[in-house]
Amino acid sequence: MELKDYLHAAIQKVDQALDQFLPKAATKPATIHKAMRYSIFAGGKRLRPVLTLAAAEICGGTGENALLSACAVECIHTYSLIHDDLPCMDDDDLRRGRPTSHKVFGEGIAVLAGDALLTMAFELLAQAPAAARYGTAALVRELAGASGSRWLIAGQVLDLEGEGQPTTKAALKFIHEAKTAALLTCAIRLGAMSANATPSKLEALTRFGHALGLAFQVIDDILDVTQTTEKLGKTAGKDAAVTKATYPALFGLKRSREIAAELTEEALHSLTPFGKKSALLRSLTDSLLAREY
Ligand code: IPE
Ligand code: IPE
Ligand code: MG
Ligand code: MG
Ligand code: MG
Repeated sequence: MELKDYLHAAIQKVDQALDQFLPKAATKPATIHKAMRYSIFAGGKRLRPVLTLAAAEICGGTGENALLSACAVECIHTYSLIHDDLPCMDDDDLRRGRPTSHKVFGEGIAVLAGDALLTMAFELLAQAPAAARYGTAALVRELAGASGSRWLIAGQVLDLEGEGQPTTKAALKFIHEAKTAALLTCAIRLGAMSANATPSKLEALTRFGHALGLAFQVIDDILDVTQTTEKLGKTAGKDAAVTKATYPALFGLKRSREIAAELTEEALHSLTPFGKKSALLRSLTDSLLAREY
């Protein structure tokens, strides 16, 4: 199947499921449910939930069993973006091509919409079917670990503390591993676990997720420098303006592009055990290196 058709179908499945699982906009109090839906349905790329479904399929499972995990990961991701954009964090006015949550609903509701999506993620995941090797509690623990204070939140802390500070290669790599690669890897692992993946397949996909996640954030840093606000759907040039620790700032654009290509190669290499079955994940990986937003 062509990547474009696969993505279209997978995103549709995820969107339908999210629409079904999230409280309706009219549910009381309407403000919070409108705010949750506003950010969830603002037109994100849905990369993480698509990876969850694709990882389940490459391990011989059905996307059906992975759907609750996929939606849970997208809820966590969207919450992290709402909070990332707050004035007390990256202070951004534009996200997914629209005004940020706090611009539309005010800071209080934006904080609460993030909190509610974070909580919703675990309400969904707790209903995910168990596989023989991985019980539902293992899935919940996986997502809690990746999004907690040792990983995603750790990355956000160090990202904030790193503004205007000198950084090292190792410190920057850890920020990227924590704030981005951990959740992306978790998305993939949840898909594999829902398909009862063997430990060796889960291990291979973990290596894939780590390299892909790092590449993804290096490219995010590059796009902040090279793309327009219109194309990105979020304000371009923000990282340099607040002297964030980024790959282009530390290594320059040319070397950053080489690093992104090396990480992409590493990600592709980790798919070797899957042979021909990995065609789709390979073309998705290639497309992410070439992405423009
Ligand atoms: C943005 O993620 C935040 C990062 C971790 C780089 P995406 O680029 O996947 O954002 P959406 O979901 O498409 O809006
Ligand atoms: C966001 O990183 C990472 C998380 C939200 C966990 P960035 O701050 O680089 O993401 P953008 O550029 O605002 O999308
Ligand atoms: Mg940030
Ligand atoms: Mg940001
Ligand atoms: Mg960024």
